[in-house]
Amino acid sequence: MLTSSLALLLLSNVVNGHEHHMNNIAEGEGISSDPIDKILWIHILIQIFGWGILFPTGMVLGIVRNRWHVPVQILGTCFAIVGYFLGHAHKGRQFAPTAHAKFAPWLNFLLATQVILGIYLKLHLEKGILGKVRPILVRAHGIVGKVMPVASWVQLLFGGIASLGFCRGDHLGQCLAHFIMGSAFIGYAIMLTILLLVGQAWLRRTGKSQEFFDSAVIAAWGCVNTFTEHRWGTDWVHNDIQHTTMGVIWWCAGLLGMWLSRSTSGAPKRNFVPALVIFLTGYAMSSHPQSLMISAKTHAIFGYTLMAAGLVRIIEISFILKDKQGTPNGEPNSWQFLTPFLLTAGGFLFMGATEEQMVTLDAAGVDHVSYLLILYSVAFLMFLFANMLIYLYAVNAAPASIKLDPESNGHINGNGHINGNGHINGRANGHALGGAEEFELDGLMTDEEDADDEDVGLLKEQNGQVK
Ligand code: HEM
Ligand code: HEM
Repeated sequence: MLTSSLALLLLSNVVNGHEHHMNNIAEGEGISSDPIDKILWIHILIQIFGWGILFPTGMVLGIVRNRWHVPVQILGTCFAIVGYFLGHAHKGRQFAPTAHAKFAPWLNFLLATQVILGIYLKLHLEKGILGKVRPILVRAHGIVGKVMPVASWVQLLFGGIASLGFCRGDHLGQCLAHFIMGSAFIGYAIMLTILLLVGQAWLRRTGKSQEFFDSAVIAAWGCVNTFTEHRWGTDWVHNDIQHTTMGVIWWCAGLLGMWLSRSTSGAPKRNFVPALVIFLTGYAMSSHPQSLMISAKTHAIFGYTLMAAGLVRIIEISFILKDKQGTPNGEPNSWQFLTPFLLTAGGFLFMGATEEQMVTLDAAGVDHVSYLLILYSVAFLMFLFANMLIYLYAVNAAPASIKLDPESNGHINGNGHINGNGHINGRANGHALGGAEEFELDGLMTDEEDADDEDVGLLKEQNGQVK
């Protein structure tokens, strides 16, 4: 049933049977003046729930081999199929060709790949050559599975842009800048939160400080921006100069940050550079010239939010942690959540500050205060969801990183704190994140031998693992 619906879905992509009415769209516009109809609203809600909530949750359940992985992903697939047909069946507002419509077949392709691979894996064909192929397919399923939330994010943004007919013609460049940078801030915030809650042990193993990675990315990004923010051969305009100098400061600072990431003895060392770069970027953004009042205010608050994120981070590194990588007991200090949260808020503020959005809000009589409160609300929800997913990973991850210790009379111990009775301490004590220091990111880098190990397999079964 599921596969035949998916086959139908793929086929309908190829044939693209539905008629696309565009007769009501005025010359040069992206949308008609009709309202969005009920069917399209349901499409939007169903797709946000399916692709935005169910699939990412299912992905985490897959990584930790939880038995709810398959049911959740099947439910998500059902939502995606219904949502797909609703996307085609709507009446009401009409749309000129959109990136949202063009990207949809690619997402469907990713999903179909996952379902086919997933069903194959579920059959557990492990004899002979099939046994050799299986690990490769698990890896492929894992990689595509982790790409999916990112691709879904892009499609959700495309959907919002399509609904309003934004980002066409001259507006495209600005849209790209805002949505890519905004998403990058949110992505960075999520990475920081993952490292904070479950990545400490991994970070230690790399032998590098967090700031080394941050600075390397900042330097690389700066190099790109130095050369791409101005159309070479044309006149320099005001914003061009600001954007290009921003690129220059990023790679200059990035180089210093990488250098300061090592102590004189060669040990990893923390430093203030990435935080200061965020602060300076915020300062530049807060005073970026804008034509509308609401735009100037939104950019200003965006800038202040980034400045706060940078300042808070310097205080965290220098005064809360006193240059240590984490707190002594591994439980994050509440202050440490501030930087990733502020970066998330900054990301939404920036994504919400394109010219067209500003003009629309201004015309609708929405002032910057209400708008900021709404964007901050979205940031709270997003940060909540990211934390919930990481928690879901952390409380389930222990069994995935069990290693059988040959020295310990058959007792299982190691990363996951499994004692002789097969109890997982984190879970049994009801504060799984308490031992966050100990969690490895092994679930993200599956060790196939673990899964093949009989004892571990038994334990996984007891713990309700997907098989
Ligand atoms: C609905 C059909 C699906 C089925 C039947 C299915 C089945 C499975 C099975 C059996 C495993 C465990 C593999 C093993 O260790 O033997 C697994 C792992 C996984 N699945 Fe799925 N899956 C499905 C859909 C999805 C989707 C849509 C996603 C992505 C959003 C996904 C993401 C993952 C991930 C990330 C893993 C962990 C792989 C790794 O450790 O590298 N799955 N899945
Ligand atoms: C990742 C989740 C989503 C997927 C996979 C998806 C997929 C689709 C598909 C396949 C269509 C039909 C395109 C066509 O006519 O050829 C469509 C239409 C549409 N979707 Fe989505 N959608 C998603 C989320 C959203 C969201 C969150 C919004 C709004 C906020 C949205 C707004 C729209 C609009 C306005 C249309 C009509 C565009 C048109 O007819 O070209 N979608 N969507």
